[in-house]
Amino acid sequence: MTGWTLDDIPWHAFDAAAVDADLLAVVKTAALVEANAADYVAYLNGVFADDRAFLAEVARWGREEQQHGAALGRWAELADPSFDFARALADFRAGFQVPQGVSESIRGSRAGELVARQVVETGTSSFYSAIRDATAEPVLKAIAGRIAADEFAHYRLFQTHFARYQSARPLPLRTRLAVAATRFSEAEDDELGWAWFAANVLPKDSTATYRSGVHTRAYTARALRLYRRSHIDNGVRMLLRAVRLRPGGWLFRLASGGLWRLLRLRVATLPA
Ligand SMILES: [Fe+2]
Ligand SMILES: [Fe+2]
Repeated sequence: MTGWTLDDIPWHAFDAAAVDADLLAVVKTAALVEANAADYVAYLNGVFADDRAFLAEVARWGREEQQHGAALGRWAELADPSFDFARALADFRAGFQVPQGVSESIRGSRAGELVARQVVETGTSSFYSAIRDATAEPVLKAIAGRIAADEFAHYRLFQTHFARYQSARPLPLRTRLAVAATRFSEAEDDELGWAWFAANVLPKDSTATYRSGVHTRAYTARALRLYRRSHIDNGVRMLLRAVRLRPGGWLFRLASGGLWRLLRLRVATLPA
């Protein structure tokens, strides 16, 4: 259970001189995606309709994700008083929608859905750890540290329930890997591109139109620069555990070395 509220954040310690413009733009984007969590709660309610115990935890998970959005949105408004979080969220929701009204996971099974959820929480846990370590602004550091801890707890939550479905009807390794790889590759899909557009483009030009590749790359270029090797190593260990492979040894070295090189390459080739 989340151990904090917005009142626990040391807002008074805010230091405007320590705000980095690129990181602010990334935080605005993340705030919108987090604040949109209710759509994912609805989706999981459809997929796990008769699993009451799990859905009770999903409801709490959704509240925590929304709180992440509220904390980041409030920080962004503090750092940029011209930023209207509610307005940007409305624009984002008008442009991007999570699939609704489904009764089966788009991952093919409940166990597959829980593999995908672990991949997402690995991503967010690494992302907020990277923000915590990248920023010199004390309030953002405090927020990102708390969120990173929550995301790791979410990863463990989905892992626990994955183990339950996996023991009832095991997914073979190739399926677990395929779901994880598919979800991993979706990290650069339209959700973040749209959030970037609503948070950083529309407020400056209300007549602008969304361009998938351009806006997704604009976000990705700034987000990827935040990561250090330690974040990638921890993330790869979490991903290996998510698909039930040993989080050490040659496979870990191969995957973390490869991912780190890929990330450096992307950072070098994306727009500045
Ligand atoms: Fe979150
Ligand atoms: Fe999360």
